[in-house]
Parts: sequence; C-alpha cells; structure tokens
Amino acid sequence: MTSPAIHPSILNADQAHLADELKRVASADGLHVDIMDNHFVPNLFGGPSLVEAVLANTSLAVDAHLMIDNADRWAPVYAEAGCAIVTPHLEASTAPIRLARELRRLGAGVGMALRPATPLEAVEHVLGELDLLLLMTVEPGFGGQPFIEAMLSKIERARAMVGARGLELRIQVDGGVTTRTIERAAEAGADVFVAGSAVYRADDAAASLSRLRALAAAHSH
Ligand code: DX5
Ligand code: ZN
Repeated sequence: MTSPAIHPSILNADQAHLADELKRVASADGLHVDIMDNHFVPNLFGGPSLVEAVLANTSLAVDAHLMIDNADRWAPVYAEAGCAIVTPHLEASTAPIRLARELRRLGAGVGMALRPATPLEAVEHVLGELDLLLLMTVEPGFGGQPFIEAMLSKIERARAMVGARGLELRIQVDGGVTTRTIERAAEAGADVFVAGSAVYRADDAAASLSRLRALAAAHSH
C-alpha cells in the first residue's frame, strides 16, 4: 500500500479568506473540495467557479467530491476545470463505467464515492475503472459530524476486495476523521484521509496535518 495521504476539506475553512486558508494547509498531500447541490444532500456549497478559484491559489492536487445529482451530466465539468481527481457519487450516476471513462478521457483521475448505506457490492463492477474509492464515514452534507464506527468493517472489506483483484486504487475515507479515529481507519485499510474540522479548527493546521499523517502511517499496512 502507498503511504498515507491527508487531504484537508475546505468546506470547513473560512470562506472569506480562502487564499489564506489554502496557505495554512500547504503541507497537505492534496486538497479536498466538496461540492453540494442541495438535492443530493441537504446543503449547498461550491461549484466550478470555486474549483477555479482554488486551483488558482494552490499548488496542491485537488480532488473534487461531488455530492450532486446528475453526475453523468455535471462531473465532466470538474475534470475540464483541472481537478486531479473527480469523485462523483455512485448513487448519482446512471452509467458509472461510462462516466469513469469520460472523466479519464478528459485527463482527470477517477474516483467514485459511496454513502454509508450503499453496499460495496454496488461499486464492485466499476472498481477496475477507478483510481480512488471514497467511503463516506458520515452521512454526506456537513462537516464536524462523528465518525460512523460501523464503517470500519466496510473499509476492511473494500481493502480485501481491492487486494484480491490486484488493483492499485486508493481508499479514501471522509467524515469524522480526527486524531481519535484515524488510526482505526488506517488499520482497516484506508490510505487517503479527508480531514475537515480536525485541520481547520486547529490553531496550527500544519501541526495537525503532520500528527494525522504520523498516526495513519503508524497504523497502515
Ligand atoms: C461532508 C464532506 C466532508 C467534510 C468533512 O459531507 O464530504 O468532506 O468536509 O468534514 P469533517 O472532517 O469535519 O467531518
Ligand atoms: Zn467530502
């Protein structure tokens, strides 16, 4: 498995000072940009113009987590905008394999996200197309929620499934990742960790990032 990566989520940043908030997390391994359409989730955040503003102000690779309906129609826009990885939700795509190939054709890495209630079996047929599998560890929509412990066995099963198929894709967890939960998520087999409030509510975001990374590294396989 590759070394653990920490991707701060700017949902939890001070939106009035976005450029400064991006500087605070310059030592991160990537940047997670949440996009919400008020339909797929009960919250509204971001859009292509936010992604463009972020890309103009960071050198980190951006992964866009699309909590939006009609993923087949809208996800390609985020690939065209220059995101390193575009991660639509499986539940919002009618043709996930076709969408994955379209995102790749546009030059983006390809992710696919699952809500906590969506079984792994639903994404099994798409795994061979992916660079990243995002397992939500909270109900998508808001930062600051507690990690759903029951997702640990789903992470373990995903890691086993990926290993059995000899695939290279990374397993990202998102929601409630803190210094108290990251070790178990790493032990279960996650290797990319989204951290929103744990990083942005810390006085020293860089210190929080390195602490999270060290905890994950000590417990990764
Ligand atoms: C929630 C978002 C997350 C959120 C994580 O739906 O997808 O990326 O920002 O925030 P924390 O780390 O505070 O749970
Ligand atoms: Zn997210």
